[in-house]
Amino acid sequence: MSMIKQLRALEILDSRGRPTVQATCVLHSGYMATASVPSGASTGAAEAWELRDGNPARYRGLGCRRAVENINTTINDALKDRPFNHQHDLDGWLVALDATPNKSRLGANALLAVSISTARAVAAERGLPLYQHFADMANLPLRHIPHPTINLFSGGKHAGGQTAIQDVLIVPIAATMDEALAMTYAVYQTAAALILQKYNMRLLRADEGGLAPDFPSTEAMLQDAVDSIQAAGYVPGQQIALAVDVASSQFYADGRYQLDGRHLTSAEMIAQLMDWTQRYPVISLEDGLAEEDWANWSALRTRLTDKTLIMGDDFLCTNPTRIRRAIASEAANALLLKVNQIGTLTEANEAASLARQAGWHITVSARSGETEDNWLADLAVGWGGDHIKIGSITQSERLAKYNRLLAIEADTHLPLASYAKRQTDDGVG
Ligand code: PGA
Ligand code: ZN
Repeated sequence: MSMIKQLRALEILDSRGRPTVQATCVLHSGYMATASVPSGASTGAAEAWELRDGNPARYRGLGCRRAVENINTTINDALKDRPFNHQHDLDGWLVALDATPNKSRLGANALLAVSISTARAVAAERGLPLYQHFADMANLPLRHIPHPTINLFSGGKHAGGQTAIQDVLIVPIAATMDEALAMTYAVYQTAAALILQKYNMRLLRADEGGLAPDFPSTEAMLQDAVDSIQAAGYVPGQQIALAVDVASSQFYADGRYQLDGRHLTSAEMIAQLMDWTQRYPVISLEDGLAEEDWANWSALRTRLTDKTLIMGDDFLCTNPTRIRRAIASEAANALLLKVNQIGTLTEANEAASLARQAGWHITVSARSGETEDNWLADLAVGWGGDHIKIGSITQSERLAKYNRLLAIEADTHLPLASYAKRQTDDGVG
């Protein structure tokens, strides 16, 4: 049994210099912990509500003082001195206290900061590493370190929209995290040299650290990724595969996908995705269709399921109701899990268990606006994520998580998860 003595919060800045929320939980036992929450830019319409102050004179309306105040007053007053045994008790109180369908009263940013800082304080109280506490919360054994998918090239909302699609990621087919990161460094540096030569672009990076030259087309983005892998001395598809975050809701309007100057119908977009997976070693396609284009997701899954993961990010928003619907209509076979899309650990865990029970693959993901906090690494290990998507290996808010994964790998000697879509495929681990 644990009991909160005090919750307090602070407005801090994320990796884009925008305000976000940090909470500290002090338990009656004397254990305490702090956690910070991230923030997205290419957000899904069904995401839980990030409470912002809306004062244009301060951070262009993005201030988080109200969310901080909600933790310091309403949430602290309601939660302190109440004994609880499980995270779901505490998260249940948070959801009931907010009492809106999308957490707009107190703010999902306030709720999640409390949910995670409390989990971390309880892990300390139990004398356990945070990943073990997360595993216990999900009632899962520790199985593996999630396989990294790492941003190489960026476009879309994270890079000023120079290409429609958002990310081309590399998936090193390595046996350990340690080896995967060393392979990534080789490809990233080779890609930086390639784009300097090809586009005369210095090492400028998008929000998640991906390289973001002015690619003439999506095709060029994919081809340059394959060329960089080859130039770094690796065999594309055999030693390093690709994953793509199409983020297609961002270029879908009036029933058409605006891609490279074309206006594609859903059927044409599916044909385009099939073409890419046939010509490039793509093992995972995220948001290949738009979040509003429900009717066509099942066709996408049917046509592509043998080749690649059909993963929902904005499409599913880590939302158990949406995931149930997608399972029933066979609209995807992989979940991108972002806990701040739903707002508490317990609801995110429910989303993950639904996906797992349906035999889906799970990618645990960071946001484009991150902090130096590293809880994501522990969560991905504890909840048995198959893949983890953090961004590139260039900025400290990303490296905080990669470095934590290296430390967990060294401590536990857990194997790296398979890179492939299912454990039965030819993946490592
Ligand atoms: P976001 O982007 O954090 O800006 O939503 C990440 C993603 O789309 O996967
Ligand atoms: Zn995405």
